[in-house]
Amino acid sequence: MKALIWNKDKTIEIVEKEIPKIINDEDTIVKVTYSSICTSDLHIVEGFVPKAIEKTTLGHEFVGIIVKKGKNVKLKIGDRVAVNCESFCGKCFYCKKGYVNNCENGGWLLGCSIDGAASEYVRVPFSNQALTKIPKNVTDKNALFIGDILSTGFWSAKIAQPEKNDTIAILGAGPVGLCSALSLRYFGVKRIILIDINDFRLDIAKKEGLADFTINPYKKDVIEEILKLTQNKGADRVIEAAGAKNTFETAWKIARANSIVVIPAMYEENQILPLPLMYGKNLTFKTGGVDASCCKLLMKLIEKKKISTDFLITNEINFNDIIEGYQFFKNNKDKCLKIAVKY
Ligand SMILES: NC(=O)c1ccc[n+]([C@@H]2O[C@H](COP(=O)([O-])OP(=O)(O)OC[C@H]3O[C@@H](n4cnc5c(N)ncnc54)[C@H](O)[C@@H]3O)[C@@H](O)[C@H]2O)c1
Ligand SMILES: [Zn+2]
Ligand SMILES: [Zn+2]
Repeated sequence: MKALIWNKDKTIEIVEKEIPKIINDEDTIVKVTYSSICTSDLHIVEGFVPKAIEKTTLGHEFVGIIVKKGKNVKLKIGDRVAVNCESFCGKCFYCKKGYVNNCENGGWLLGCSIDGAASEYVRVPFSNQALTKIPKNVTDKNALFIGDILSTGFWSAKIAQPEKNDTIAILGAGPVGLCSALSLRYFGVKRIILIDINDFRLDIAKKEGLADFTINPYKKDVIEEILKLTQNKGADRVIEAAGAKNTFETAWKIARANSIVVIPAMYEENQILPLPLMYGKNLTFKTGGVDASCCKLLMKLIEKKKISTDFLITNEINFNDIIEGYQFFKNNKDKCLKIAVKY
């Protein structure tokens, strides 16, 4: 089968690999029907993900059909499934607390340290935790982002501990920022400010009802605007989903005292935490990789039409064109939010 891999020299290529086999009793082999390209895939190719292993098949955001299964897997062959980007055992110290990103036996493996979804078939470990059955009235594309981007936005919104009357600022109107906003809406938050340098994305946020106010830092001073909108206090909560050079600094500066600043963004360089400057602001920072443990709930919400991520798909390509897809995704943030890759 064909598989998309990355090399140390930052190139990607399609190679031939063997169709994967069941290794453990909780494994499944999933035939991919749709996958997507994630900004984290670009971070891997650029060499910014320390645990990523060169020549591993890329891709960790996908849906498909179970074609083989180990003897302990509860779902059936033929079931359509959304796959979690995290592989977790469900039994260890961290899993029991819901901190599945730090599973002692797993974590982010697919498309990072074991072969992922940019190929026809994938071996999915810990399938009883990793797979969520897609119900009849939900299409593969409806469910495509459940295991990664939607989980990340939902997790970011949840750990921000939002209250209905909060004014919440989100840096970055990319897929993660927008999924955070739609999750905040689900939690009942009435006032959301989205900040991005890209008007195409801010317009989508407004059109989808995910932003009450938008700020483009190229046009307006973000700190001034936030102060104006919050009676000089600052935002009650901040979600930093941009990951740009100066957005961590903006994030803590626009937060009001005692705010929670959530940082799902993955940076390409170290950030500075100037504690003397922040002294007295009494901020709480929450950072890191998504604990993607809410996939069943997210599937239910999509099934009941309480939330939808369909608007994220701005482009669709065939798997054979995935190399061009990567280039397009990387270079056209003003035209493209997410690409659905069809197999
Ligand atoms: N924590 C996790 O588990 C997890 C999961 C998925 C993605 N991520 C990370 O989250 C981040 C966001 O992902 P995404 O897919 O939405 O990426 P993205 O690149 O599509 O979105 C980032 C947005 O930030 C905007 N931006 C850039 N500079 C800015 C600035 N100075 N001010 C305001 N906005 C600015 C960009 O225009 C873009 O729209 C990435 O770093 C990604 O790697 C983390
Ligand atoms: Zn991802
Ligand atoms: Zn575990």
